[in-house]
Amino acid sequence: MRLLAVDHPLVAHKLTVLRDKNTNSPTFRLLTDELVTLLAYEATRDTRVDETEFETPVGLARGVKLTAPKPIVVPILRAGLGMLDGMTRLLPTAEVGFLGMIRNEETLEATTYANRLPDDLTGRQCYVLDPMLATGGTLAAAIGYLVGRGASHITAVCLLAAPEGLQLVERETQNLGVPITIVTAAVDERLDENGYIVPGLGDAGDRLYG
Ligand code: PRP
Repeated sequence: MRLLAVDHPLVAHKLTVLRDKNTNSPTFRLLTDELVTLLAYEATRDTRVDETEFETPVGLARGVKLTAPKPIVVPILRAGLGMLDGMTRLLPTAEVGFLGMIRNEETLEATTYANRLPDDLTGRQCYVLDPMLATGGTLAAAIGYLVGRGASHITAVCLLAAPEGLQLVERETQNLGVPITIVTAAVDERLDENGYIVPGLGDAGDRLYG
């Protein structure tokens, strides 16, 4: 598993405002959108492209086009939905599939309650969106599901990650045989006794959608 904690002053600034408990919901949504676009720029560095030849108004040129089939963007409902527009702004032709997952706040176990994804993901590159990587149970289950359906390359984009969650995702995915990358704005200190990231930003779903 490859971890990329994006080190950029604009990322740090937007994250600072997101973390602040006095930031209201409309501002939180707007900043999440902007922050995801910055993270998406780094997360899409390994998007597959093919060379192509075309004409400019002046002459022949070489460029690249996205390799078919196009990547799939998978927001994990509910909070991941707040990251979708920021991601598809950079990948407007990507297919979008949805996974609804919820963490039981007592057992911290993740369960899937909705799935609207193609059955066959053979060879597809998937970008999973979920703002919080806390215990890692949700992301590990999502990655296992996507790889089980044939996905050949997974990049997860998170606003924040906890060290405990990163360890669990690494442990649970290391034998899947596909490259896994986690892109995040920051790796925080730890989880508290309720499974919340510290210092974190609170419950991203509640702050986005109330
Ligand atoms: C939050 C968050 C992640 C998950 C992280 O979602 O958005 O999906 O918890 O926790 P984990 O790493 O310990 O599994 P939640 O279950 O609160 O659902 P929501 O998006 O509907 O708010």
